Amino acid sequence: MNALELTDVRKVYTMGDGSDVVALDRSNLTVAEDEIIALVGPSGSGKTTLCSMAGGILSPTEGRIVVAGEDISDYGDKELTKFRQESIGFVFQSVNLVPFLNAKENLTVVDELGARTGKEAQRRADDLLGELGLGDRKQNMPSQLSGGQRQRVAIGRALMNDPKLVLFDEPTSSLDTELGEQVMELIRTEMKRRGTAAIVVTHDERITEFCDRSVHIVDGRLES
Ligand SMILES: Nc1ncnc2c1ncn2[C@@H]1O[C@H](COP(=O)(O)OP(=O)(O)OP(=O)(O)O)[C@@H](O)[C@H]1O
Ligand SMILES: [Mg+2]
Repeated sequence: MNALELTDVRKVYTMGDGSDVVALDRSNLTVAEDEIIALVGPSGSGKTTLCSMAGGILSPTEGRIVVAGEDISDYGDKELTKFRQESIGFVFQSVNLVPFLNAKENLTVVDELGARTGKEAQRRADDLLGELGLGDRKQNMPSQLSGGQRQRVAIGRALMNDPKLVLFDEPTSSLDTELGEQVMELIRTEMKRRGTAAIVVTHDERITEFCDRSVHIVDGRLES
């Protein structure tokens, strides 16, 4: 089963003055079950908009969005919230760790929002942090971690719910080249080990080497 199928998806933002911005024009994209796609394009081309719709943060203006067989195109807010908790992992450029929770608590907080309970979540957070090389940093607050370590905590958090699709929006842009490549290597290893699909948004052509396939986007239009 494909991880993601976008069919003729369009997103139009209507501004306060009534004017329209076409952020994504009729777009088609298929991401296979265990595929890692690089989504490459200039600023303002629609990358975050596409990821937000694939991840159920935004609804499309037109078109169909199917994630691991589930058609979310017509979902309302409540259904989208449940869908995100069950099926999607997000990793953002700005990392977005909760500053007053330590590394492990930043993972287990997911469980309070979602499906896993108590002990199971504790164990899973321990396992993930171990795999990500942070077994001895679990108690550190985000401010006591390096940039790369923070990004790894964010990756661990995105994997807590066993997502069907992980969306990385410029995961390496705040890191230097070497660290960025290390984080990409880690992303690739972790996704392939789990057989989980991912979309990695990037400006950086070097990052595309860690992906199975690149898709380019210009002015809201996808071109493979
Ligand atoms: N909430 C919004 N309301 C109106 N227009 C928006 C909104 N969000 C994005 N846009 C516009 O839609 C277009 C696509 O934006 P998007 O954030 O998807 O681009 P992007 O490719 O992620 O850019 P960047 O690389 O700078 O993050 C841009 O022209 C942007 O100004
Ligand atoms: Mg963006």
